[in-house]
This record gives sequence, structure tokens and C-alpha cells, in this order.
Amino acid sequence: MFETFPQLTTERLELIEIKKTHLIDFFNLFRDERVALYYQIIPFKEAKDAQVYLDLFEFRLKRETGIRWGIALKGFTEIIGTIGFNSFQRNHTGNLAYDLQFNFWNRGYATEAARAVLEYGFDHLQIRRVEADVVIGNTASDRVLVKLGFKFDGAVPTRMYWNGSYYDKKVFSLSREDFNRRGEERDSGNVFPEPLPEF
Ligand SMILES: CC(C)(COP(=O)(O)OP(=O)(O)OC[C@H]1O[C@@H](n2cnc3c(N)ncnc32)[C@H](O)[C@@H]1OP(=O)(O)O)[C@@H](O)C(=O)NCCC(=O)NCCS
Repeated sequence: MFETFPQLTTERLELIEIKKTHLIDFFNLFRDERVALYYQIIPFKEAKDAQVYLDLFEFRLKRETGIRWGIALKGFTEIIGTIGFNSFQRNHTGNLAYDLQFNFWNRGYATEAARAVLEYGFDHLQIRRVEADVVIGNTASDRVLVKLGFKFDGAVPTRMYWNGSYYDKKVFSLSREDFNRRGEERDSGNVFPEPLPEF
């Protein structure tokens, strides 16, 4: 499926393969507790903490069970975040995840990157339905998903057990049909207001 890594380009971003040279960027990303907070990651203390995750991304890519892009600003080689499918299954589902350096939050980058990744997932990985789990309280992530057209499927108590604690999570999903329909509406300028459901 991945003879070469599928680099993606958006208006302001390049979504690139995460290489060994990005270790320090990735370390800096997750040494920040604001980024790690809702991610079930203990903020990195040393570079080897970051290497564990880069190895995991590589492992998933080789087995074609997941794919993670580095997010770079156009014209720059360092990565300011990552995005991808933690897991995916052809003709079925993918689980979306993303993160960005704190300094770059609230400029629409995660939403812009996610649109490209969703398009790739639906078109090239034949994913039918993308899911995303969000820890309750991660309002920025909720908002990204709503902007992308995800539906809120419900809050699931103790959805996750990690590091000795249970976490309730909100589950969101987006079908290929809804994503394409929304894209057509955007292209035609007929953009409907984004829903702001209670959750
Ligand atoms: C989630 C994350 C990737 C979002 O990245 P981003 O590039 O800032 O996202 P965007 O700019 O595309 O959209 C963020 C939206 O959330 C809104 N937002 C941010 N913080 C908010 C808050 N506390 N309450 C309400 N809305 C908030 C922003 O205003 C923006 O909405 P708008 O475009 O309608 O104004 C970033 O916050 C992050 O890296 N968080 C840590 C990692 C993480 O939690 N990842 C998700 C795991 S599920």
C-alpha cells in the first residue's frame, strides 16, 4: 500500500514522513504538558521517550495498520505537530489523532491538516468511516472535529484505562459520504453553518 510515503500538501502546510532528524522536534512537542494533557502521554523527559513513539509509528506503517504524518509549515523542514490514523482497516474504519505545538494553536492548522488526511484516508485507504475519541474537557479537539463535520456519537464512561486511571471519552465519527458532501458544499460556496451540539 505504501511504496513511498504519501506526502500531502495543503494551503499552508506540508504533511511529511517523520524521519530520525525530527526526533528533537517530536521530543519538544510532547515535553510540553499542555500538549500531552489529553493524550494519555506522560510529558517526555528525554529523547528516548520520543523515540518509543517514533518506533511505534514506524511499526504501524510497516504493517499498514496506521499512518502518521509530521506537520511542517511550508518552506520549513522541522515538524510542529503530527497527525494521522492510529489505526485503520481498509474498507472499514480509521481512528484519527492529531497534535500541534502550543505556539501554533488556534490558527486553523489542525483542521487544515485533518482535511487533507481525511481525504487521503477516504480516497486511498478506502476507509468508510473515521472515528475520533476525545477526553472530556479537550474543547479545542471537539471543535476541530465539529468544524470537519464529525458527528458526536456519545460520551462513553471509562472508555479508556491508562496509567492506573479511567477516562470518559466523547466519540465522534465521520462517514465518507458526509465528508464528500461537505466538501462539495464548500466548493460550491454553499457552506452550511457548523453545528454546535451540546456535549
Ligand atoms: C487539538 C489541537 C490539535 C487543535 O489544534 P489547532 O490547530 O489549534 O486547531 P484549530 O485552530 O484548527 O481549531 C481549534 C478550535 O478550537 C477552539 N478552541 C480552542 N480552545 C478552546 C477552548 N478552550 N474552548 C472553546 N474553543 C476552543 C478555537 O477557537 C478553534 O475554533 P474556531 O476555529 O472556531 O475559532 C491542539 O489544541 C493540540 O495540539 N492539543 C493537544 C493535543 C490534543 O489534545 N490532541 C487531540 C487528541 S484527541
